[in-house]
Amino acid sequence: MFEIRHVQPQDIFSVIKIAYESLPERYSPEVFNKFYELFSEGFLVAEKLHKIVGFIVGIKTSNGIARIPLLSVDKKFRKQGIGSALITQFLKEMSLQNIRQVELEVRINNDAAIKFYKKHGFDVTETVPRFYPTGEDACIMKRVLRSC
Ligand SMILES: CC(C)(COP(=O)(O)OP(=O)(O)OC[C@H]1O[C@@H](n2cnc3c(N)ncnc32)[C@H](O)[C@@H]1OP(=O)(O)O)[C@@H](O)C(=O)NCCC(=O)NCCS
Repeated sequence: MFEIRHVQPQDIFSVIKIAYESLPERYSPEVFNKFYELFSEGFLVAEKLHKIVGFIVGIKTSNGIARIPLLSVDKKFRKQGIGSALITQFLKEMSLQNIRQVELEVRINNDAAIKFYKKHGFDVTETVPRFYPTGEDACIMKRVLRSC
């Protein structure tokens, strides 16, 4: 079994390790500390047997909108429902924070993530050509939590 909980400062090293192993982007450790300082309510981790096995980072933007810049599950622990548990808890937390819409972007060829987000109620609303520094296109995905 695993537990979903808010991140603690001592988890950040494990979070960075998972991010580096599974995401193409390289964020500096300070960026993770900043996410924690700015909106710790949107920064959740999954813990299994005292090990951090996944995380989600959300940020609040203007007008009741939140974004998910990062979500990742350790490769060895994927397809076990951990990503789903993270995003489900995250969406509950965002409702409590009066967020009305959650947005994110994902690489257009990241089929696993697009299928994952669709399963959790997100729709692709547009594609942005050459969004990433590598020249890859992005899908913008959104999920409405409440209408106004
Ligand atoms: C996307 C990601 C977070 C999913 O985490 P996970 O814990 O494996 O997801 P779950 O086990 O909760 O899967 C839920 C659903 O997502 C979809 N899904 C997950 N992985 C998939 C895959 N490799 N291929 C196709 N669909 C997939 C399926 O619909 C799955 O439901 P099912 O098991 O009933 O088929 C994980 O693959 C990951 O960390 N990917 C690398 C980082 C990334 O791409 N992040 C998102 C963009 S920032």
